[in-house]
Amino acid sequence: SSLFLLLTASALAQTPRPGVNYDEAKVGTDRLPDLKLTTAQEWTQKRRPEILELFEDYVYGKTPANIGAPKFEVTATKADALGGLATRKFIHVSLPDRPAWPGMDVMLYTPNGTKAAPCFVGLSFGGNHAVSTEPDVPLSTRWMRESKEKHIVDHRATEATRGTESSRWPLEMILKQGFAVATAYYGDIEPDHADGWKDGLRAAVSRDGAGTVWKDGEWGAIGAWAWGLSRIADYLQTDAQVDGKHLAVIGHSRLGKTSLWAGVQDERFGVVISNDSGEGGAALMRRDFGETTAIITKAFPHWFTPNYAKYAGNAAACPVDMHMLIALAAPRPIYIASASEDHWADQKGEFLSGKYASPVYALFGKQGVGVDAQPAIDTPVGDFIGYHNRTGKHDVTDYDWTQYLKFASRHWVK
Ligand code: GCU
Repeated sequence: SSLFLLLTASALAQTPRPGVNYDEAKVGTDRLPDLKLTTAQEWTQKRRPEILELFEDYVYGKTPANIGAPKFEVTATKADALGGLATRKFIHVSLPDRPAWPGMDVMLYTPNGTKAAPCFVGLSFGGNHAVSTEPDVPLSTRWMRESKEKHIVDHRATEATRGTESSRWPLEMILKQGFAVATAYYGDIEPDHADGWKDGLRAAVSRDGAGTVWKDGEWGAIGAWAWGLSRIADYLQTDAQVDGKHLAVIGHSRLGKTSLWAGVQDERFGVVISNDSGEGGAALMRRDFGETTAIITKAFPHWFTPNYAKYAGNAAACPVDMHMLIALAAPRPIYIASASEDHWADQKGEFLSGKYASPVYALFGKQGVGVDAQPAIDTPVGDFIGYHNRTGKHDVTDYDWTQYLKFASRHWVK
């Protein structure tokens, strides 16, 4: 199969933003880095570790190995949550060796009346009280991005923020199908702003003082958030109501970039899901469409290792592209989703990374996306690499969850 980016001329209607390309005829023709495929064995033993290291060096940075063992305390259990459908627990995760990190509060819902449940694991933008509509979920007290529309006042959540993220987490629908959900506020791990690391995990682990400059290859915020997802996976191995061998990691947008990075590093995530992850996530960086490396590294430099900014405006020089990130999940099932109005995330670039990762799945005798061209809107495709482009805007909807539940069920109920 061709390693060249496919070009089809189709001008897309989108409110123009100066300097941002939305013309498919102008995405560029840069060649993707070669996956250098030989055998499944050589992929697993040699090529995969090499590529993982390239992503550490050039994109997300390396997660320090010496962070220390986490401690888990179940702080509350409610056996009749969601009208009796579920058991709800809160688990405080801390690092006894790194007391400067304030820790993370995980909210876990497990379905009642079933055996140990497979579990979706994902971080939220607004905290546990925004994910759930239950009035007794403690309000997050942590730093949040100021937002009138989201009722964040003086960087803190207010009562009005309860349930504001619940449409993205259809708990009843997920639990009724026999799946558990484990989630935490991403800002518990590190507040999402340029100086956020000073009050988060990265300072507690890697730095003593403020004002330190991060070096090439050191981890960014996405790396820290991904670490948090793996600690949730640690806890889930110990909870009798969860089947710790069947964990799906999920995330939207910047947290979709995070779920990809967590999912490729931590093989306990048997299913990896990227919802509208876009640039710095599933979208090929060599395509100049919507957000680019130049834009993202300027707006959100703290998400990545400093090296990544060197490819601003020069993605062609980067040793990796995002088909290689998707391929790192192989042979585990991975799902990439786009939304039809989300041109900023480059839907076609998201599809193509799945397409160009598919030959790696073929090495394992598994089919990836299974189609050559991006499918029509609302037409899910793929076997081990799932893909759809849902009608609508940048968001997580019931349509998206319906596909993820089907995908996980198909791969797990065998
Ligand atoms: C911005 C950013 C995207 C990101 C998104 C989000 O739009 O440019 O890269 O995915 O925020 O996280 O919602």
